[in-house]
Amino acid sequence: MTEDMIESGNMKIEWARNHMPVLAHVREEFITGQPLAGHTVGMALHVEAKTAVLVETLAAGGAQVPICGCNPLSTQDDVAQALDTRNNIRCYAIHACSNDEYYTAIDAVLDHKPDITIDDGGDLIFKLHTQRQDMMPDILGACEETTTGVHRLKSMERDGALKIPVIAVNDALTKFLFDNRYGTGQSSWDGIIRTTNLLVAGKNVVIAGYGWCGRGTAMRAVGLGANVIVTEIDPIRALEARMDGYRVMPMIEAAAIGEIFVTTTGNVDILTREHFEVMTDGAILANAGHFNVEINLDELKAMATSTKKARNNIMEYNINGRRINVLADGRLVNLAAGDGHPAEVMDMSFANQAMCVEHIATHKLTPGVHPVPQHIDMKVAGLKLEAMGISIDKIKPHQFEYMDGWETGT
Ligand code: ADE
Repeated sequence: MTEDMIESGNMKIEWARNHMPVLAHVREEFITGQPLAGHTVGMALHVEAKTAVLVETLAAGGAQVPICGCNPLSTQDDVAQALDTRNNIRCYAIHACSNDEYYTAIDAVLDHKPDITIDDGGDLIFKLHTQRQDMMPDILGACEETTTGVHRLKSMERDGALKIPVIAVNDALTKFLFDNRYGTGQSSWDGIIRTTNLLVAGKNVVIAGYGWCGRGTAMRAVGLGANVIVTEIDPIRALEARMDGYRVMPMIEAAAIGEIFVTTTGNVDILTREHFEVMTDGAILANAGHFNVEINLDELKAMATSTKKARNNIMEYNINGRRINVLADGRLVNLAAGDGHPAEVMDMSFANQAMCVEHIATHKLTPGVHPVPQHIDMKVAGLKLEAMGISIDKIKPHQFEYMDGWETGT
């Protein structure tokens, strides 16, 4: 730990904090009400500046906050070190840690005996359920940040394996409509552009998956001047992509003409041997999904006649003269090759997180996946509008009656 690193981390945290007014409002409420006094909130999140602002907010509410990373490449060491100097906060995240170190850090967080947890991807909850079951009776509840994590938790619930209450923060409207769409849409391109320093305009860009992240990434690719192709397995989403103006085709066709590929599906094996076989020289592959499973790197490595580091965070796989470039080892490109989502977007996501932690601390929830209470979602939207200086109309009593009734027709 060095003074320079801590100073750099503090500077990033201050910049983020200054662009997160909704979370600042929650922090003021927390300072006054101390709703988390006596609680320990164990976190596994991407340790970067916006996350640090959430951590500070929880600590300001009275909590002890041990935190580790939720991806080996997304931790920013300067931010981690700055966080670790704060009262009531302990940070175990280290950039580019091994798998063993990653899980050791999760254990270190659990050793603090948290009664509330926050996950991004579900690794901490998974460890709790598989190796640290002794701690389960003390857990009041948990929050999950991302689509992939919520999906995993719903599978656990379906199989009767989920033993604690979890709030699906990802599913709040003020989370996924903004973070997944505008956040991923901007930050993925930020990661790709700053890593490659190449032009997007005029290129064939293939977006795999047309969920909220895919929609945002495709929309921003259009703004950058790309010819956008979408691949999907869901017929409704495929239709939507088509009517949003994109070409839609199977990946095996897209693979032969794509120049930049961005996977956003959350599923495994989106780009595999059959696709690498037909890709053109110079193709760029990036993943924007939570886990590094969408690009099958084992198959790519097996096919490569040689590999080399082409630029920082770019590995070039040469297949008999055809060069295929993988960004950030196929890990989520916006965080492993960038700074994550813009602060204004994480402001809403993390205000939801903070208020859901308060909700868990002040309510008794039953095991299972719970939605974000609607009043929290509405409060985040209202505060965000206020912070942006935007006022909106109020419904009039007779309008409410009209909407609420069913007798009035033609
Ligand atoms: N910064 C912190 N958490 C993040 C996330 N889940 N996605 C993008 N940026 C982030």
